[in-house]
Amino acid sequence: MVIKLLAVAGARPNFIKIGPLMRVLRRDPRFDARLVHTGQHYDAKLSQVFFDELGIPAPDLELEVGSGSHSSQTAEIMKRFEPVLAAEQPHAVLVVGDVNSTIGCALVTAKFFLDKPFRYRGVERRRPVMVHVEAGLRSFDDDMPEEINRKLTDTISDLLYVSDPAGLDNLRAEGVAEERFAFVGNVMIDTLLAAREAAARSPVLGDLGLVPGGYGLVTLHRPSNVDDPQALARLLGALDELAGRMRLVFPVHPRTRARLDGARVALDPARWTVTDPLGYLDFLRLTSQARIVLTDSGGVQEETTVLGVPCVTLRENTERPVTITEGTNRLAGTEPEAIRKAIEEALASPASGRVPRYWDGRAAERIADHMSAGFESA
Ligand code: UD1
Ligand code: UDP
Repeated sequence: MVIKLLAVAGARPNFIKIGPLMRVLRRDPRFDARLVHTGQHYDAKLSQVFFDELGIPAPDLELEVGSGSHSSQTAEIMKRFEPVLAAEQPHAVLVVGDVNSTIGCALVTAKFFLDKPFRYRGVERRRPVMVHVEAGLRSFDDDMPEEINRKLTDTISDLLYVSDPAGLDNLRAEGVAEERFAFVGNVMIDTLLAAREAAARSPVLGDLGLVPGGYGLVTLHRPSNVDDPQALARLLGALDELAGRMRLVFPVHPRTRARLDGARVALDPARWTVTDPLGYLDFLRLTSQARIVLTDSGGVQEETTVLGVPCVTLRENTERPVTITEGTNRLAGTEPEAIRKAIEEALASPASGRVPRYWDGRAAERIADHMSAGFESA
């Protein structure tokens, strides 16, 4: 049987994760895979650039949901995804990560009945097999919208593909049956390894007047860090001390841009290079040559680990603990004094050079092989 699969992506990190999966699934005769773009992110710099640079096939379907509050955005995704399932009748739906598009489409799928049954793991079923890639991550912080999305998506998914070994412990602790999950590695790192040569040709360092090892790279977009102008100003104030020692490059996420303007934070252009969000290849080039990276991004914690670049995470917790135990990541929190200390430690410590197991460029292949095993010929 050819497995008809709908893959879903909606926000920047989703595109980077879905790229290798689409490449593998499209050339695998066991699958007929189509891509749905929810439109959660729509600016060219948060969406189209990744399709262009990473060779991701154009979406087959676009839901064009746009921005909104959590509930209105998730509801809009659900309303627009349900008719897609009715028209497409997929055997499986695959979602990645922890954004609103992830839970919105998973929740629709989990309650959807197909016109015709099919056989999966020895039983007849009418609901599409729900697949979650990057399952099992937990920050144990319910104030993070992504934590709610992760827990709910895992609960209603049939197949849980785990990237961080801690994910296995988390799922076991939650009582998830062993046959529902598998450790497969990290699809975001599939993309990184495949793009390294192209990124090495990026002219971004010269364009921004930077030399390898001579600057720090900053990203901030978590609501807890950027939505309150005072919290954002305090965080940037702590980083400004480092900017006095080395230039800080800061590609600004649109959520943060809106708050930066409101907070009236002055980032001295003699010390800071503030840019729009960057394309993947330029950003990877900048990350790989940075002296230090300061971030609240999930994906960037993983990428710095693989690149061996010191990373200071400006959060109280991380759902990606392997980046600390085996990688180059340090959890600083958000207090200025703690940030200073973490920066000094990061600058003083030698790179670890260790890469977590299966972060080897083949995670998407493992997922395709594992997924296909459960479907039976009609
Ligand atoms: C979302 C994800 C977050 C992820 C991040 C990656 C959720 C709950 N959050 O956060 O987990 O880390 O994407 O970048 O799903 N905007 C634009 N242009 C766009 C998209 C958004 O200007 O193309 C602005 C809008 O003002 C919007 C705001 O950014 O209200 C936030 O966008 P949204 O997708 O709601 O959340 P993110 O902060 O991007
Ligand atoms: N990224 C990028 N350009 C930027 C900032 C980040 O291409 O200006 C990439 C980064 O390399 C990583 C992904 O975007 O692959 C991380 O996305 P983001 O930080 O928005 O979301 P999170 O991972 O926190 O959910």
